[in-house]
Amino acid sequence: MAYSEKVVDHYENPRNVGSFDKGDDSVGTGMVGAPACGDVMKLQIRVNAETGVIEDARFKTYGCGSAIASSSLVTEWVKGKTLDQAAALKNSEIAEELALPPVKIHCSILAEDAIKAAVNDYRQKHTDAQTA
Ligand code: FES
Repeated sequence: MAYSEKVVDHYENPRNVGSFDKGDDSVGTGMVGAPACGDVMKLQIRVNAETGVIEDARFKTYGCGSAIASSSLVTEWVKGKTLDQAAALKNSEIAEELALPPVKIHCSILAEDAIKAAVNDYRQKHTDAQTA
């Protein structure tokens, strides 16, 4: 199966590969797996506590080219976004941007789940500090 140009680009030049210290207060970590294929994705965000804006993101994905491209794309997209905006990101937007074929849609769902999990993790760490 042929990958789209954008998938190949992200796959060959993945953005924001790596990880932050999980214990860091400003970091939210999302770790998800796809039962269908066994691929695993870790996505992390670093959040400015004062503004609630995501300033940086990292990922590590053990999976197919589409999963790597999806997570790379998401780390680019969420920078500068608020937590709400990041949590509202849809896998369909990722699939559309990367022109993923139907059999690779679950790879983009993995990225959506990962960013949501990262936002939740950050929020859980800060439930005391947040009022609304
Ligand atoms: Fe499962 Fe891509 S084949 S994440």
